[in-house]
Amino acid sequence: MNSPVEGFSKLSKTDKINWIAHNCTDDPEATIQLLERYWNSDSEVQKLHDEFIENTLSNYYLPFAIAPNFLIDGELFAIPMAIEESSVVAAASKSAKFWLEKGGFKTEILGTEKVGQVHFIYKGDAEKLKSFFDILKPELLSSVSSITKNMEKRGGGINNIELRDFSDKIDGYYQLHCTFETLDAMGANFINSCLEQFAATLKEQANMFEAFSEEEKNMEVVMSILSNYVPNCLVKAEVSCPIAELGNDDMPAEEFAKKFVQAVNIANVEPYRAVTHNKGIMNGIDAVILATGNDFRAVEAGVHAYAAKEGQYSSLTHACVEDGIFKFWIEVPLALGTVGGLTTLHPMVKLGLEILQHPSAQQLMKIVAVAGLAQNFAAVRSLVTTGIQKGHMKMHLLNMLNQMGASEDEKKQLVEHFKHNTVTNASVQEALKNIQTQ
Ligand code: MEV
Repeated sequence: MNSPVEGFSKLSKTDKINWIAHNCTDDPEATIQLLERYWNSDSEVQKLHDEFIENTLSNYYLPFAIAPNFLIDGELFAIPMAIEESSVVAAASKSAKFWLEKGGFKTEILGTEKVGQVHFIYKGDAEKLKSFFDILKPELLSSVSSITKNMEKRGGGINNIELRDFSDKIDGYYQLHCTFETLDAMGANFINSCLEQFAATLKEQANMFEAFSEEEKNMEVVMSILSNYVPNCLVKAEVSCPIAELGNDDMPAEEFAKKFVQAVNIANVEPYRAVTHNKGIMNGIDAVILATGNDFRAVEAGVHAYAAKEGQYSSLTHACVEDGIFKFWIEVPLALGTVGGLTTLHPMVKLGLEILQHPSAQQLMKIVAVAGLAQNFAAVRSLVTTGIQKGHMKMHLLNMLNQMGASEDEKKQLVEHFKHNTVTNASVQEALKNIQTQ
């Protein structure tokens, strides 16, 4: 157990590294060497990363990869993905190729509305609050005109402000529920700045509202913050083809379509399966979100809330067969940005966006939804045919060999060997031993 430290953030980077190495690790010298080995050799790049967060000691790498051949609304994309899980990019690429030959992915933006709320407590006459709100609303809008000016010039801004009454749930609890259009920005700073001004204006105007008693004037703002639940910032992506085109080496087309739809339906009605089903979707979504510098925690939180919007956690994708046509689609809320934040700062993020041809936020929503759908298609296809372990363990083979300390030559031989043999921890260990003792 290490002891508390005062003023850690004010120490130099070297002192921070020394402190952590000597207080929390078994081999301080090895820790220092490791942290330094992961520094970027370009000091400018390292400085940039150091300044993203507080107390940076080093960098934490994730592989940055490309899944090519995604045909989306008639346009071809190579999708950048940042992820550590071995089979994800391979699965995405396989799905992309499969659907490329069948017309590709079709997408549609169903909404782009973002949400923010001022939560406050008012213990007075509800009717008086409603009349106050009618007077307050134009004041709220004009109080943020300097913040919204530029956004409005580009066609965005505040869509609406509603007074919502939750006093039946918590005594005196009301909200200003606000909706925004933030165009290509994710909009967190814009929304939060507007909300904090709304809160100040609310207090100020309440003080001046003559019909309020002293207690009513003294309403209490609890907090002002955007919501990551964005059910009206929604995108749909879809694939479809005649059933006959679904045939593969592992299963006849009719049987495959039937089992696939059954698997998706199971995820629709059964939360244990739905969570794993959606986790597979998020493998694709998060990888693109990370590669494009967006906030995966925000997306995760919003997506899972959306998956539970009917009162039970359920699948984000749906599938059916109608008149001999197999259809598979996803509807997913995604509040994304392609300007501001990391998008202009992180060199790899900039590259990711360049590879995607500098998409607007709406285009990025479509690409991300497609990555989720493609990932889910690959996972469910494996699950209802060969099972996932075969492909997964093949992809994991290099990790296992690295862990076992195999040389480059041994890895080459064993990758060849396991093209025709089943990968398990024991079989890899044995095959490596065989080569080493030959
Ligand atoms: C593994 O990361 C994801 C899967 O479990 C998803 C699924 O079961 O649909 C394969």
